[in-house]
Amino acid sequence: MSHRKKYFTYRSIDDLRRDIEAQGVVIGLEDALEAVRTPARIGSRSVGNRLGIHPMEGCDATRDGAPDELTFRRWRRFGEGGAKLLWGEATAVVPEGRANARQLVINARTQPLLGRLLEETRAAHRARCGSDDDLIVGLQLTHSGRWSYPRPILAAHLSAIDRRTFIDRSAGLRADESTPLLSDDDLLRLQDAYIAAARLAADAGFDFVDIKQCHTYLLGELLCARRRAGRFGGSFENRTRFVREVLDGIRAETGPRLILASRINAFDGVPYTADPDTGIGRPDAFTIPYEDGFGVDPADPLKEDLTEPVALARMLAAHGVDLLNVSLGSPYYNPHVGRPYERASEGSYETPEHPLAGVDRHFRITAALQEAVPDVAVVGTGYSWLQKYLVHAAEWNIRRGRVTIAAVGRGALAYPEFATDALTTGELQSKRVCLTVSFCTDLMRAKKNALGQFPTGCVPRDEVYADVYREVLKGEG
Ligand SMILES: Cc1cc2nc3c(=O)[nH]c(=O)nc-3n(C[C@H](O)[C@H](O)[C@H](O)COP(=O)(O)O)c2cc1C
Repeated sequence: MSHRKKYFTYRSIDDLRRDIEAQGVVIGLEDALEAVRTPARIGSRSVGNRLGIHPMEGCDATRDGAPDELTFRRWRRFGEGGAKLLWGEATAVVPEGRANARQLVINARTQPLLGRLLEETRAAHRARCGSDDDLIVGLQLTHSGRWSYPRPILAAHLSAIDRRTFIDRSAGLRADESTPLLSDDDLLRLQDAYIAAARLAADAGFDFVDIKQCHTYLLGELLCARRRAGRFGGSFENRTRFVREVLDGIRAETGPRLILASRINAFDGVPYTADPDTGIGRPDAFTIPYEDGFGVDPADPLKEDLTEPVALARMLAAHGVDLLNVSLGSPYYNPHVGRPYERASEGSYETPEHPLAGVDRHFRITAALQEAVPDVAVVGTGYSWLQKYLVHAAEWNIRRGRVTIAAVGRGALAYPEFATDALTTGELQSKRVCLTVSFCTDLMRAKKNALGQFPTGCVPRDEVYADVYREVLKGEG
């Protein structure tokens, strides 16, 4: 920890502009907020403004996957916050595909409660923001694949990743080269589970379902299954078969009203480990050509190669996807890529790059995908590190057509009303913004309580989670 540097030291937007220039990155900041206020098309629907909230799970479901008290609280707060796109969190399509013991699951039993969660969220929005006619709310359908808890479930062996697949170090739960792979028949059954889950979500009243392909979970892994045999591995055509057939199946099953969405990883990157002397992350040794990531240049895997992500985005659009959320990296092996941060989570590494470089990577890659699919509403990620200036970067990107909607993840846990404040006062309050100090990730990794998982939220900004964090520390002491 002694090597931790302070990066976010700006006292004004001009200070930040100077550092952006010094770092040689392309991040623009507009003073006045105008474009963020305008509606946008998502397929045949309209969303009321250009600010969204990313899927942010709270690890607070009941043990059988239904929303619980804290889930309702979080969603209501998001509903009240003024953002018009709410991207409901990771919800497993089968119980064994959960990433933790308290992730949401969708099935016939939990569906009525998910419907109530949606209705309370909409009611909270109406009470604070007026009409919810232009509020779009969806649900992220997931299978955690190799990160399933407590048993990893693999679709492909990826040698660079297999050795890093620890589900719970202290419990000795992990995957390795000998972990069996899902068969084609297993995957066919899982396709049916996605379609059934989408049907339930549509019937519960959600506006969209997201077929999640990001953050190296099961469908992200299939995109990398270059050495897998059979109909789901090898060629790009085969690696994208699962999602294609699921989208077609959902459309046939639910009709045109349900918006089809997908959160994709456009760049997986390579695994990083802390340098034992400095605590700073450095890439694990890799072999060339590197084949264990999606959107990764095989000759230089620290860099993106967007050929396949662009082809994927176009293919998804051709199969009815009107809403595309672009993300990067793996929270398990290179968290700085997906969530540029100031402080690493416990047991992880300090950022190996200036966080502005990480923000720039998000914005650059998202702009390339938006250009490739101009008729799709593309949602951008990676804004929270900019703290109170995030809305000014959103404005710059939206004005230039580099993204349709800017969404916020950690920043919304800290400050659910960021959108209302931005739209009414033209700026965010410094004392409420996310500080990107990773306590929310610490809580996600804390499993030693009776339920096998602590709930997560914003420790510095929300007393509820400051208390949870104190409880975790007590348990460790
Ligand atoms: C506590 C926590 C929960 C998250 N839950 C999800 C999730 O359910 N689904 C998902 O796709 N990403 C999830 N993410 C990632 C965020 O949606 C987002 O991509 C990431 O935090 C980077 O955006 P930001 O810089 O605005 O925070 C989560 C991240 C954190 C820290």
